[in-house]
Amino acid sequence: MTDTDDIHPSRKPFLDWLAAGTLTLLFVGVILIFRVPAEGAADEVSSNFLFMGRFHPIFVHLPVGVLSFVLLLELISLTKRGEAKWGETALLALLVGSAGAVLATAAGLMLAQGGGFQGGTFTLHLRMGILGTAGILLALFLRLWGMSANRSRVLMAHRIVFFLSFAVMGLGAHFGGNLVHGSRYLTQHAPAPIADQIRWIEDTLLSWVTVKDKLGPGKPPTPPTQGEETPTLVFSHLVLPILEEKCNNCHNEDKSKGDLRLDSLAMILQGGEFEGPAAIAGNSAGSPMITRVLLPLDDDEHMPPEGKDQLLPEELALLRWWIDQGASETMQLEELSTPSEIQPLIERILKPSTP
Ligand code: HEC
Repeated sequence: MTDTDDIHPSRKPFLDWLAAGTLTLLFVGVILIFRVPAEGAADEVSSNFLFMGRFHPIFVHLPVGVLSFVLLLELISLTKRGEAKWGETALLALLVGSAGAVLATAAGLMLAQGGGFQGGTFTLHLRMGILGTAGILLALFLRLWGMSANRSRVLMAHRIVFFLSFAVMGLGAHFGGNLVHGSRYLTQHAPAPIADQIRWIEDTLLSWVTVKDKLGPGKPPTPPTQGEETPTLVFSHLVLPILEEKCNNCHNEDKSKGDLRLDSLAMILQGGEFEGPAAIAGNSAGSPMITRVLLPLDDDEHMPPEGKDQLLPEELALLRWWIDQGASETMQLEELSTPSEIQPLIERILKPSTP
């Protein structure tokens, strides 16, 4: 087979090049304009940008859908006949998909201007999203070149770049999902071997970007592995799991709404933007992390916000009890008498359902 094949004999590709060039300029432009702000400094960001940024979670579905279609077309186009028949369609779809990816990147960068995002998951989502989009644009140019010059080798190179970029983008998107839904959203109900695989991939990637974070404060204390006679720490073993499930999708190191993290005692005591320490030892009735929950459901300040998974009465009772007992990290269950209303909950948390 010669390198110069007459696959697409009569192309007039000017408009395609123009479109691809414009997209690339836009992509580079938004990256330069919206470089992620240095920690926290986001107060004077125009609310128009933040408004547009909030469309990010909607825009992202466009490239995912369209580029999956491109994936299918590229597989069909692996044969010369397939390329002759579907190459143009693949190009059009790739253009639309690239436009979607650039749009999603732009909105994402605007959204990040609002601050409140930091940490490894966010870094990976940002970098892989940008890298994936850059790769998709490169693939677009390679396809244009391959088609205009009728070179099947360039088309092959295009496909390799496309497949790799799509994979990077997919992984980046997964970390975006983790940002929104919490890092256990996908693995929680996955069969153990699959969940382990996914976590391994996540941890490996995270370890590339979070070396320096690990040294910093604010890591949740790793609960001691439960051996036979290790005491049950009220905070690590009972309180934290509840917060993880009901609160920390929004109050974690990657996403700290109201500048509040509830993923370690230090962070709880450091508190949030307006209300100060979220827990006041010995005074649950005066602790924002309790008063917010006690507000009527339709109150704007009610936690968790309306529509989200709410605390059960016994979970609230446990949090209150922990605060009233002193809100410490070292409190041991065995040393205290537990109110009967939270006893069943404690048993449920400590004996995770074994399927
Ligand atoms: C869906 C996201 C979400 C969930 C889940 C959530 N929060 Fe919030 N939380 C927010 C947002 C957004 C704010 C900032 C706006 C505000 O102050 O109401 C906030 C603010 C707060 C504040 C005030 C921080 C400050 O000082 O300004 C407290 C306290 C709080 N949340 C506690 C909780 C607790 C406790 C839970 C779990 C029972 C929880 N939140 C679950 C989104 C969430």
